[in-house]
Amino acid sequence: MDKPVRRFGRVVKAPENFLDRELIDEINTQGLDEQRRGFLRRSFLAASAAMAAGSALGQDRPAAVGDGDPHILTLPEHSRTLGRPVAAMPYGLPSKYEANLQRRESPGLTRVSAASVAFTPLQGLFGIITPSGLHFERHHQGWHDIDPSGHRLMINGLVRNPKVYTMDDLMRMPSVSRIHFIECGANTAMEWGNVAVPSVQYSHGMLSCSEFTGVPLSVLLEDCGYDKKTARVVLAEGADGSSMTRTIPLDRALDDVIVAWGMNGEMLRPENGYPLRLVVPGIQGVSWVKWLRRIEVGDKPYATKDEAIHYMDAMPDGSYRQYTSIQECKSVITTPSAGQRLLGTGFYNITGLAWSGRGKVKRVDVSVDGGRNWRTARLETPVLSKALTRFNIDWEWNGGPAVLQSRAIDDTGYVQPKINELRAVRGTRSIYHNNAIQSWQVAASGEVANVQVY
Ligand code: MTE
Repeated sequence: MDKPVRRFGRVVKAPENFLDRELIDEINTQGLDEQRRGFLRRSFLAASAAMAAGSALGQDRPAAVGDGDPHILTLPEHSRTLGRPVAAMPYGLPSKYEANLQRRESPGLTRVSAASVAFTPLQGLFGIITPSGLHFERHHQGWHDIDPSGHRLMINGLVRNPKVYTMDDLMRMPSVSRIHFIECGANTAMEWGNVAVPSVQYSHGMLSCSEFTGVPLSVLLEDCGYDKKTARVVLAEGADGSSMTRTIPLDRALDDVIVAWGMNGEMLRPENGYPLRLVVPGIQGVSWVKWLRRIEVGDKPYATKDEAIHYMDAMPDGSYRQYTSIQECKSVITTPSAGQRLLGTGFYNITGLAWSGRGKVKRVDVSVDGGRNWRTARLETPVLSKALTRFNIDWEWNGGPAVLQSRAIDDTGYVQPKINELRAVRGTRSIYHNNAIQSWQVAASGEVANVQVY
C-alpha cells in the first residue's frame, strides 16, 4: 500500500509591525492606561487576523495547481537581465523583503527610549546565532559610537602594577573566540504576575547569542599582578553616562570571562558596547558591562547602585536576594508562538531555543497538551556550554485546541520549573530571573496566544 501523502500545515507570521507611530508616541509620552492597553490588544488581534486573511487570499503566492504555475512557466526579469555589480553594497544588508524583522521597543515599557530595551525578534530567526543587527539592546543611558583610538581600559585596585591599555594593546594579546548567550535578568519580567505581552519577541527577546572574541580577563589580571592573597572580586565599570558598575567574584573572573572587542566575526556594534565589553558567560546581561573602561580588583562586593537598588530579587516575605546572577536553565518555543496562526491541519515543525547559565542543555521535552504528556525534542548541533541550543520536534496538528510547552534540563540535572512552582518560592513581586515554562495556546481557529497553564 502507498504511504499516505504527508500534509504540511502553514504558519502565518505574527504581525511584527502592528502599531501606528501615533499610538506608540502617545503611549511613550503619556504612559499606558487601561484604555491604551485595550488598544494595544485589539491592534495586535486585528493585525494578526489581517495577516491570516492576507495569506488565505494568496498574498504569499502559493504555487498554482492545474494550468501550471506562472512563476515557473514565465522567465522572470531577474533571469533575463544583468544583475547588480559586486560591492554595490560594500557592507551588505538583508533583503528588502525581510525588512519587517526588526528589534522593537515595547510601547509604554519605559518612559525614555535612551533608558529602554529593544527586543530580538526570536520568532524569525534560525539556528543559534543572532545576527548582529538584531542583537537585543538594553541601555541605561543611551549608546554612543566611541572612537576606539581614544578608548582606554584601566586595571587598578589590589594589583601590583596598575595599568592602562589602549585597544591596540589589548588586541595584540592572546585572544579566544567563544559562542555564548546573553540574557537580561529582566527577560520575561512582565509575566511574573500574569500574561502580559502578545508575542515571543516581547516575552523572551532580551536574549541573543553570538560568537565573542577577546582576551580572557585572567590574562589581564595576571599581567597586572593581582594580589592572590587578598583579592576576592573585581568591579567592572562602563564609560557611558550611567556609570554601570558590577561586582564579579574573582573565581568567575579568572574562569571564562572575556574582555571582548569582536562579535560574530566583526567588531562589536556600537549599541552592544563598541569598542570593548565584558562577556560574562551564564551571568545576567547587566554584568556584561559595555563600553568597558575600568576593572578594579577588590576584597569584597561593592554593593553599587546596580547591585543594591536594582537587579535584586524581591521575595514574598519582603526581603531581597542580592547577587543572584546566574541565568538558570530555560527554554521557549519560537514557532508556533503567540501572534502566529496555523493554517490547516497536518505536519508542523515545532522549534525553539534552550539555554543554561550553568553549562550545556542536556534535554528538551515538548508537550502539546499543556504538560500532561511529554516527548523529547531533537537537539541540533552544536550543543555548547552557556550558549543557545536549537531544538526541533515533529507535530501533527489535528485541528483541536492544544497548549504547546517546552521544558529544558541542563547537565547539572536542573529541570526548568512551571510558573506556579516558581511563584511558590519567589512570589509575584519579582522582576528578575523568571525562567518558567512558557505556554502557547493553539485555538481550533489556528490562532496562537500567550497563556499561563500549569
Ligand atoms: N553596560 C553599560 N555600560 N551601560 C548599560 O546600560 N546595560 C546592561 C549591560 N551592560 C548596560 C551595560 C544590561 S542591563 C544588559 S541586559 C546588557 O548590557 C545588554 O547588552 P546588549 O545591549 O548588548 O544586549
